[in-house]
Amino acid sequence: MLSKVHTGLDPVPGIWWKPAHKAERVWVGIAFAWCLVLFAMMPLWHFRGGQNPSGVRRRVDPKAYFARTVAFAAQYKIGEDRGLPIVAPPPGADVYLVGLTFQWYPILQLQQGKEYMLHLSALDVNHGFSLFPLSVNFQVVPGYDYGLRVTPTAAGDFRIICNEFCGIGHHTMVGRVIVVDAAGKPVADNSTAHLTNGAAK
Ligand code: CUA
Repeated sequence: MLSKVHTGLDPVPGIWWKPAHKAERVWVGIAFAWCLVLFAMMPLWHFRGGQNPSGVRRRVDPKAYFARTVAFAAQYKIGEDRGLPIVAPPPGADVYLVGLTFQWYPILQLQQGKEYMLHLSALDVNHGFSLFPLSVNFQVVPGYDYGLRVTPTAAGDFRIICNEFCGIGHHTMVGRVIVVDAAGKPVADNSTAHLTNGAAK
């Protein structure tokens, strides 16, 4: 004899209509209270957490920002790496970095322990600023100048990875930030040398 085929029309066998056990009610209560705690943490963390960026954000015309960045690069250019200018602004300066398909422009050379105002924006589409191998991530959005007060704490030769899918060359979008120590010496340690500059091709 064929066994009965169960469908969604048949009532589920069980005892769901009986009152919940006391332990179950207690756990539902605990889970609900914890939900409220986590919900309260969202606004609380916004004001008390240490993760908020120190920056200011303002609207900007993408083309004007790009022109400003090119002028900045010309002003403080000290060298070149595969066609991209290496730019060394003085401490305290406004530093401009722009993301465009598919490169970060220009290459920055900063001094360890000195504060800069780093401006981030994009020319065309959204890009993701990810300073590798550190855990620093920002959305870079065209039309917004995102100013961050930054003080490089370690000398080194760092890479900027794009972590927002921006098109066919997204994976090649690798930028470079050089941080020199107090003596101003170029850093020999290049632990991320296997990553090539996307703009080099
Ligand atoms: Cu730029 Cu992905």
